[in-house]
Amino acid sequence: MQNNPAGLQLDLSGCLRHFLSIAGLSRDLLTEMMDTAESFGSVAEQAVKKVPLLRGKTVVNLFFENSTRTRTTFELAAKRLSADVLNVNIATSSTSKGESLLDTIRNLEAMHVDMFVVRHSSSGAAHFIASHVAPHISVINAGDGSHAHPTQAMLDMFTIRQYKGAIEGLIVVIVGDIRHSRVARSQIRALTTLGAKEVRVIAPRTLLPKDIQSLGAHVFETIDHALSGADVVIGLRLQKERMSGAFLPSEHEYFARFGLTEQRLKLASKDVIVMHPGPINREVEMESRVVDGSRAVILQQVSNGIAIRMATMAMTMSTVNQMRSQQQK
Ligand code: CP
Repeated sequence: MQNNPAGLQLDLSGCLRHFLSIAGLSRDLLTEMMDTAESFGSVAEQAVKKVPLLRGKTVVNLFFENSTRTRTTFELAAKRLSADVLNVNIATSSTSKGESLLDTIRNLEAMHVDMFVVRHSSSGAAHFIASHVAPHISVINAGDGSHAHPTQAMLDMFTIRQYKGAIEGLIVVIVGDIRHSRVARSQIRALTTLGAKEVRVIAPRTLLPKDIQSLGAHVFETIDHALSGADVVIGLRLQKERMSGAFLPSEHEYFARFGLTEQRLKLASKDVIVMHPGPINREVEMESRVVDGSRAVILQQVSNGIAIRMATMAMTMSTVNQMRSQQQK
């Protein structure tokens, strides 16, 4: 695996070649991604929801972990860019017969594909694939272990920018299972790169990673204190599938101490927005009244996922095309 993700992600002129992590990417590049996504926003409103940018390209969705939002929005995004899309069903693939990850990739490469969108339970899987694929193939990380989920973070930044005008100067609270969350790590990196005033994190001690302050987040002890004056509140799912021991006394107790309620949100800024990457455990992470309330922008996050994923695919393919044409000169 590469130690410097930006080095693997960028070509020699600093353009996005793979999208693996927010780490090492500049504010300008993240802004360019949001601007590109904005330019794709109108495609969904056209009678024919397609632009020809990826016509003739083949995108492979390779999801070794379950997904509803990410897999489907990547598929829609690729189709709206006119790409051919291959959804590999891992449960019925030869992975179940013991084929290695690299052999699976090599066999799909032999079919002359152009892009892999990868979700995997192992941190570093997307980096590993990116460091082994042929030069004309781009890899996009759709979530690897508890390491990174960069397209989720960018659709979240895009949503915040849509509602707040900018990320600069905002107080953003992230509440929930931060220890197991690739989303939180990517969000904190994106928020600090884009100039948020303060990123506050709040979770039971057992669900806070030791290194979280080194990313630039401030740890709060009580949710009421964390919510005071907040512009954006992001709830995270309790990732029970990644919890091997007793991380929580009970869901009931978690909700009592950390759950987002209408009552608690009164402490935040009056125009606070409430976000959640999904899937949501209602009445554990958030009251249903909050999930379905006027401050929630959770379904807008899902819609924005298509535009951001279109932007990601368009940017990486454009870089690969440029690299190819330079090689042919
Ligand atoms: N937010 C997110 O990654 O959701 P899925 O697991 O449904 O893709």
